[in-house]
Amino acid sequence: MFSSIVITNYDAYEPYISSYTMNIHYNKHYKKYLDNLNNLLSKYNYEYSKEELVKNIDIFPIEERDNILFNLGGVLNHELFFNNLGYGQMSEELKNKIDEDFGSFDDFKKEFIKQANLLIGSGYTFLVLNKDNNLEIINVANQDTPISYDLIPIMNLDLWEHAYYLDYQNDRKDYINNFFSIIDFSKVSKIYEEIQKNI
Ligand SMILES: [Fe+2]
Repeated sequence: MFSSIVITNYDAYEPYISSYTMNIHYNKHYKKYLDNLNNLLSKYNYEYSKEELVKNIDIFPIEERDNILFNLGGVLNHELFFNNLGYGQMSEELKNKIDEDFGSFDDFKKEFIKQANLLIGSGYTFLVLNKDNNLEIINVANQDTPISYDLIPIMNLDLWEHAYYLDYQNDRKDYINNFFSIIDFSKVSKIYEEIQKNI
């Protein structure tokens, strides 16, 4: 049984994401994925973390794997997204790595925004670390998780309509641009640095 992350400050990202959207996103969408996941897993015994379950999805009967993976991805992707919202500063270590892999922070930002605008349908744009320990920006559809592709998620942007439609309607472009005003780069840096310590 996995427990919920806690969010109480729904208005923390106004005016870029409204309190109303945050409330629904967390209480309805995220918690629904978590409830579905816990229900699906309730009849099994396992001692895996959520990330390990992605890697070991074949322990479940084949007819249940898609449904488990969809809800597991829904939980993992939302927990990362909510984690990377905020206003913290980037560490020198991550800043240097971004300069190394993208040229500069501005180039990274341009590439992230470009990829987000290219995503068709529901999904996420992710900053990930690949097998060579280099940063990449990728899009995933629906609730796919980069963990399935042996990539380590560092940061993401939720591009499902439920994440922005109440605030932006069809102006997805504005939602994507505004995301860069509400990224907690201190938390993104922390994830990056933890991975470096364990390599
Ligand atoms: Fe979402």
